[in-house]
Amino acid sequence: MDELQAVQWKDGKVLILDQQKLPNELVLLSISDYKNVVNAIKALNVRGAPAIGIAAAYGVVLSVWHLGDGDRAAFLETANQAINDLKKSRPTAKNLFWALEKMRLVLSNNLNRPLNEIRRVLLENARRIHQDDIQRCKKIGEHGAGLIAIRSTVLTHCNAGALATGGYGTALGVIRAAEDKGKKIRVYATETRPLLQGARLTAFELMEDDIDVTLVCDSMVGYLMQKNMIDAVVVGADRIARNGDVANKIGTYSVAVLAKQHSVPFYVAAPLSTFDFDLKSGEEIPIEERHADEIRQIGSIQLAPEDVAVLNPAFDVTPASLTSAIITEKGVLKPPYPDGIDKLKINS
Ligand code: MRU
Repeated sequence: MDELQAVQWKDGKVLILDQQKLPNELVLLSISDYKNVVNAIKALNVRGAPAIGIAAAYGVVLSVWHLGDGDRAAFLETANQAINDLKKSRPTAKNLFWALEKMRLVLSNNLNRPLNEIRRVLLENARRIHQDDIQRCKKIGEHGAGLIAIRSTVLTHCNAGALATGGYGTALGVIRAAEDKGKKIRVYATETRPLLQGARLTAFELMEDDIDVTLVCDSMVGYLMQKNMIDAVVVGADRIARNGDVANKIGTYSVAVLAKQHSVPFYVAAPLSTFDFDLKSGEEIPIEERHADEIRQIGSIQLAPEDVAVLNPAFDVTPASLTSAIITEKGVLKPPYPDGIDKLKINS
C-alpha cells in the first residue's frame, strides 16, 4: 500500500494522521491553528521523535500562514511564540528541538524580507526537514540491512516506522530494507504498554506491508530470548547522548538487558537529528512523565482503582554498554561510541 503519512502540509493546513485512532479508524486531523499542532503533539495524535519534529516545523509555518501583512512586529512575535510553545510540547525527543532550531535560524536569517517571502522560506525549510528525514531513513535502512542475516527473526519495541518519521521508518526502515534485499524477516513486535504503540501501530504498519509480524506482550521478551527465538533487536531512539546512551520508549532498557544476557545483538537505528551532542551521558536526558490515567486505564476502560498512585515515565535510558551498534544515515557506529559520535557532529 502507499506508505502511511504521519504528517502533511496541504493548502495552508497541517494534516495529521491521528495515531490515537489507529488501527481501527483512519482519521486525518486538519489543523489550521498552530496551537492545535502543540495539542496534537502533547496528546500523541502525532508521535515518534522525527515525526514530532516535522509536525512542529509545519506548526511554525502555520502560525504565520494566515496572518495579514500589515503588522511585521506581530508577525515575528507570533512565529517566535509558536517556536517557544512547540518546544514545550514534549521534552525527550531531540528531533523536536533540532527541527525548531532550524526553523528559528531560518526566521532570524530572513527577518528583513517581505512577510510573504518569510512565509515561503519557512515552508521550504519545513518541507526540507520532512523530505530529508525520509532520505535519512532510507540510508539508515541500507546501512542497517547489512547487519541482518538472510533469514532472521527480529524483535522491535514501540513504533519506529513510517508513522514515527517522515516516512519509511528507522528501526522498521532497517527491516523494510532487509526485506527489499530479498531477506526473509520475521518480526516480533512488543505491544508497548501503556499506550500500545507496538500493538496498534507497528503491528498495523508491518501487516500493511505484508511483513511477517507476531505481537507479544512486553513481559514475553525474556521467554522468547531464552528459547533462542530472537536473532536481533532493532529499536529507534528519542535522544542519544555523546557517550552513546540511548533514550527510547519505556521498556527498551529491559529488552536491552535481556538481549545482553542472551547474547542477542541489540541495534539502535536513528538519524543524526536524534543525537544530542551537548549531553555527556544519558543521565542528562530529560524523561517525560505522562498522565497517571494512561496506566490506570486502557483507552477509556478503567482498569485500576481510580485514584491509585501511578508512576508513568514515557522513556528510559539504555546505557551504551548494552548496545551492539547505532545505525545512522552516515553509517554504522560500533562501541566505543564517543569518538564516532564526535566525528558525526563534525560532519553533520
Ligand atoms: O511516546 P512516543 O510514541 O512518541 O515514543 C516513540 C518512541 O519511543 C520511538 O521508538 C522513537 O521516537 C523513535 S521513532 C523513529
